[in-house]
Amino acid sequence: MMLKRKLRREVGIQSDPGYPQLGMHHYLPYLEGMHAELKPDVYFEIGTESGASLGFAHCTSIAVDPVFRLDTDVAKNKPELHLYQGTSDDFFASGMLDRLGLKIDFAFLDGMHLFEFLLRDFMNTEKYMSPDGVMTIHDCVPYNALVAEREWDKDKTSSWTGDVWKLLPVLREYRPDLSVEVLDLAPTGLVKISGFDPDNTVLSDKYEELVQDYQNLSIEQFGLDRFCEAVDLQRLSAQLQTPSIVPDQRIFSTWEEPERAAKASRNIALKTAVPNARQKEVWGDYHFARGLADAFLRLGHCVKIDSVREWYKDAGKSDLDIVLFGTEVYTPTGDTPMIGWVLYPGREEEDLTGGFDRAAHMYFASPAAASEFNASKQNCTGEVLWQCFDPKLMYPPDRPADEGMVFVGSNHYHQFGPRQIVEYAVQNPWTFKLWGKAWKRHPAKAWLQDQYLPNARLGDVYRDARIVLCDHMPSMSRDGYVSNRIFDALACGAAVISDPVENMPADFDKFVHCVSSQDEFDAALSEIRAEGATRRKARMSFAKDMHRRHSFDERAKQILEKGAALSLF
Ligand SMILES: C[S@@+](CC[C@H](N)C(=O)[O-])C[C@H]1O[C@@H](n2cnc3c(N)ncnc32)[C@H](O)[C@@H]1O
Repeated sequence: MMLKRKLRREVGIQSDPGYPQLGMHHYLPYLEGMHAELKPDVYFEIGTESGASLGFAHCTSIAVDPVFRLDTDVAKNKPELHLYQGTSDDFFASGMLDRLGLKIDFAFLDGMHLFEFLLRDFMNTEKYMSPDGVMTIHDCVPYNALVAEREWDKDKTSSWTGDVWKLLPVLREYRPDLSVEVLDLAPTGLVKISGFDPDNTVLSDKYEELVQDYQNLSIEQFGLDRFCEAVDLQRLSAQLQTPSIVPDQRIFSTWEEPERAAKASRNIALKTAVPNARQKEVWGDYHFARGLADAFLRLGHCVKIDSVREWYKDAGKSDLDIVLFGTEVYTPTGDTPMIGWVLYPGREEEDLTGGFDRAAHMYFASPAAASEFNASKQNCTGEVLWQCFDPKLMYPPDRPADEGMVFVGSNHYHQFGPRQIVEYAVQNPWTFKLWGKAWKRHPAKAWLQDQYLPNARLGDVYRDARIVLCDHMPSMSRDGYVSNRIFDALACGAAVISDPVENMPADFDKFVHCVSSQDEFDAALSEIRAEGATRRKARMSFAKDMHRRHSFDERAKQILEKGAALSLF
């Protein structure tokens, strides 16, 4: 249970601009997989703490930590276990490894998070590595400047990588003979090294000089671009099909508390159109609410997400109800102020406007819908608040994807007729990948990857493509709603080919090609395929800018500012 909570807390942390963004897989399950794959005879670990990583080893193991805080039976699956309670420097000085006469097949360095300590741990461990041994190192990819400081300010950050990131540029420069891969595992990367030379003395000869050069250098003084280059992050998403994060088991209608409460922390209830808990994974509305809830938590507020079943439960405990309008009318009860947000038009047969009556403010993800609302003189004002994206999942790749187009969506021919954008793609399939239901009897099935793509993998798929195809339900086009797929794709640095959309946010038309015929589709495709390095670079910086303008964090801030301006709390 503790481990599950740790995994959930540590996956999906958003990096500060300029810092490498880690993926959605956690290092602990990955280490477990490495044990299964490598089947080492000898495992060595510096920094054990609770024993979470040591527990995965099934072989002769040696673990070093000045303060063991074991909370699992780490001995049960091992023929032999040596625990050294002391610093790693003392351990190596003790000659214990020589006495044991062991060579290390698999090592994990996760001890003191200061550069000179890790440098020594690396040099000392290499001397005992077997020729085909593999070493892994934790914490070399910090996600902001604060976690990378040499002193851990526990009042400001609950995690700390320290400055062990410095080992990466040092290995790249002085040990090009090693194979060094940096994997995008959450929360702070995993370095995987092989090709050891136990007799190599380059680092020990230069030790004093390296410490002098690097010790007092901050990551920003070193240069973030230079750091990212040294990291050269390897994306594991393509290889690891299923994210290792435990499925989201958070339940509806439960108050969630922020890690760090804001000075004026509010209780915010999000009312979604998801009918009940069982259906949450397949409802886009849930993922939308989850992203918004996480943004409020990051800002220091308490949140809960209600499915329709819990809409009226626990009324009165929140300071603000945000109703994400979908398919049913929400009627506020009690005095809690309510802000409504209409993200897509309701079904043809339903009139949701009855639910807008008691709102303090209404947002619409469509300029046309906001104007129509204002023209009908309601009790409050309607304003445009565009769709947005989850910055934990949608961010640009380190290198722009080279080729290919993707479409994620089901074939709903029987309801709305053919999805024209897919019909065009099939006629001109430049490395096309498709996910969705009911394509099996359609010519597009030749490109079908799977019927279902978990939401947590969507960003990986968009980042791996140069073009994301998009279209709109007839009611969305009619009422001027822009699909959130466009926001996601642009945030991932992809170009978009879409059916015509009126009134997109400013500048979107730079990278969204709207087409209404096969010829226009072909022309857009050729234009994107022919684009040069400058244009791709522009697309990547546009993606970074999306984060400032259209992420859930931005929307959460806008809503709170509106609440304050209207004196709702
Ligand atoms: C992040 S924890 C290790 C977590 C563990 N490897 C895991 O993945 O669950 C870091 C550990 O390093 C230990 N440590 C601190 N200084 C050390 C040193 N000089 N030598 C060895 N271990 C040290 C700490 O006591 C702490 O338990």
